[in-house]
Amino acid sequence: MVKIAPSILAADFAKLGDEIVRIDKAGADLVHIDVMDGHFVPNITIGPPIIKALRKVTKLPFDVHLMIEDADKYIDSFVDAGADIITVHIEASPHIHQTLHKIKKHGIKAAVSLNPATSIHTIEWILDEVDMVLIMSVNPGFGGQKYIEATTSKIKQLKGILENKGLDIDIEVDGGIDLSNINEITKAGANVIVSGSTVFNSHDTSKIIKELREKSF
Ligand code: DX5
Ligand code: ZN
Repeated sequence: MVKIAPSILAADFAKLGDEIVRIDKAGADLVHIDVMDGHFVPNITIGPPIIKALRKVTKLPFDVHLMIEDADKYIDSFVDAGADIITVHIEASPHIHQTLHKIKKHGIKAAVSLNPATSIHTIEWILDEVDMVLIMSVNPGFGGQKYIEATTSKIKQLKGILENKGLDIDIEVDGGIDLSNINEITKAGANVIVSGSTVFNSHDTSKIIKELREKSF
């Protein structure tokens, strides 16, 4: 079963609590929260205090995507704020094994993310340490970008490696996903779909989430 994780980057930040209630009522499976530091990516978004405030409005799991340098320093704060899954980027994590353990010792899920130009082989030796791999299908930093087609082969490649190793972990894909491409992405092996603008720009949130599910493989 595919999980739909709306990215709140595309929500109305002036009424963020209501926006989360909107996707909760509409049947979202996870809340995808994009944290950016202005160093690893050229944009700055939100941090632990806002996540902590949002924790009060929903019981949906918080899927916290850290696009930051020095993630180790902030893991405790994000856990305390209510993160259920913390994703760190391989490109920003020189000691990834240690970072993943730092996340998992809190009893929450740990995931690793890859930028579009980063090879799957960079994470091959830590696959048995993660609960999920997040494949970026746009260059991280902004919502509303176009899906990079080469991602589909990368998803298939990862799926193959996981099958060979006998690992059953989630494959999440993030960026530029809409009704036109969700089928090819899920068919390639993705089972957690991030969708920002497609979900939040729709006037009928329940309908768009339902349609995304129906179009999934
Ligand atoms: C980009 C973020 C994404 C983004 C997805 O850096 O990680 O989560 O918000 O937005 P859409 O679905 O609009 O491409
Ligand atoms: Zn994201």
